[in-house]
Amino acid sequence: MLEQHQVRNGVMALLRMRLKVLLTVMMVNVFIFILISCHGGRDKGFQDNVLVPSKPFWNKMMPSSGYWNRQQQVLDFHNNPILANHSAADLPDWLNETHVSFDVCQPDARVTTQVKNYNSLPVRFKDFLLYMHCRYYPVLVDQPDICREPPFLLLAVKSLAPHFDRRQAIRQSWGRAGMVANRTVVTVFLLGQTTVGDHHPDLSPMVSYESDRHRDIIQWDYRDSFFNLTIKEVLFLDWIQTRCPGASFIFKGDDDVFVNTYAILNFLGGLSASKSADLFVGDVITNAGPHRDKKVKYFIPESMYIGSYPPYAGGGGYLYSASVAARLHATSRRVALYPIDDVYTGMCLMKAGLVPEKHKGFRTFNIEEKYRANPCAYKSLMLVHPRTPQEMIQIWFWLNQPDLNCQ
Ligand SMILES: *[C@@H]1O[C@H](CO)[C@@H](O)[C@H](O)[C@H]1NC(C)=O
Ligand SMILES: *[C@@H]1O[C@H](CO)[C@@H](O)[C@H](O)[C@H]1NC(C)=O
Ligand SMILES: *[C@@H]1O[C@H](CO)[C@@H](O)[C@H](O)[C@H]1NC(C)=O
Ligand SMILES: *[C@@H]1O[C@H](CO)[C@@H](O)[C@H](O)[C@H]1NC(C)=O
Repeated sequence: MLEQHQVRNGVMALLRMRLKVLLTVMMVNVFIFILISCHGGRDKGFQDNVLVPSKPFWNKMMPSSGYWNRQQQVLDFHNNPILANHSAADLPDWLNETHVSFDVCQPDARVTTQVKNYNSLPVRFKDFLLYMHCRYYPVLVDQPDICREPPFLLLAVKSLAPHFDRRQAIRQSWGRAGMVANRTVVTVFLLGQTTVGDHHPDLSPMVSYESDRHRDIIQWDYRDSFFNLTIKEVLFLDWIQTRCPGASFIFKGDDDVFVNTYAILNFLGGLSASKSADLFVGDVITNAGPHRDKKVKYFIPESMYIGSYPPYAGGGGYLYSASVAARLHATSRRVALYPIDDVYTGMCLMKAGLVPEKHKGFRTFNIEEKYRANPCAYKSLMLVHPRTPQEMIQIWFWLNQPDLNCQ
């Protein structure tokens, strides 16, 4: 009996202890809970708190108010491998893939309602927007064998059909093709069409004659205008890949610049292999953005583009490697066309993960007036803008004087 009583007491003691432990644990838990709640309540910004966000942490993609930006969002969306498996039916209307034709290019009438102030825009914007999705135009004049022997340097000059004198001056001076300073140089002139519709005189027989005679003209069937220079860029990038992929370096520039081909060849000859691979040099402009003043040639309205520009090299002339040309070609398909060609090239470089490099020898804003008639001023420069055909021949003559002594 006594024993039983002792056992019962023992069991009760054990239960009481367990209960105590349980109560203590509960109390501690309640205490911690109160501590956390109070702490969290008082200090909302405290980093260790687990706060359930009230909104999703990702941003729902909103269409930009700039038409170019919006087109780029669409391209980025469709080129994103993670998002690529979407079901088309789930897409908001604005993300629906733009119709891109590689054969016959039709004007895209949707822009008239999709660009906010379309009707009040200057006509060059309307023309650009209607054809912004077109990247392919047929070639009219080609030089399929011009790079049969891949040159060290390909000089590509953006020109307009009526600029016969500029092209001839370039052939007779800095664009002389063949062996230059023991390097092979090939020169081509890039033309679009100057059409009767724009009241241009019909120069096609003369361009034909010139092309037969010099075999250095590439011409495509699109309207050659300032805003279509980006088309020229894109078509030229295609052309390099099909007709001249073996050129080690490419210079692309305007027909009103003087290029010191010797200085360029000298510079290229001194580059290390790693430096050459990623080469893209010119007169690089950083921290620029669109001009919002309607009177400026480079004016771009907000309805067209929002944001600043990536670093880009002035279109007067820049120099890059075969490898960069291939990467630009591949990336350009993923960048919506922009009406200013050098900015567009900057956008493509950025997309390709490349940065254009500034070189003091590229003077797209000219040199000081007092040096312009000094032969020695041109000796170490690579490019000066602008120069007339006569000046090109004069400067080239200076640079070829064996007794030109510049210290
Ligand atoms: C994408 O969808 C297709 C067909 O529905 C499927 O076969 C494929 O595995 C998917 N790919 C990825 C990366 O989810
Ligand atoms: C996308 O556009 C095409 C042609 O413009 C149309 O047929 C299709 O229904 C559209 N899809 C969506 C999801 O709006
Ligand atoms: C000219 O170039 C060739 C091949 O690049 C080279 O072998 C030769 O030594 C060079 N000649 C001179 C004079 O530099
Ligand atoms: C660009 O070229 C196309 C094709 O010739 C033409 O329809 C369009 O009007 C041109 N754009 C501009 C801005 O001149």
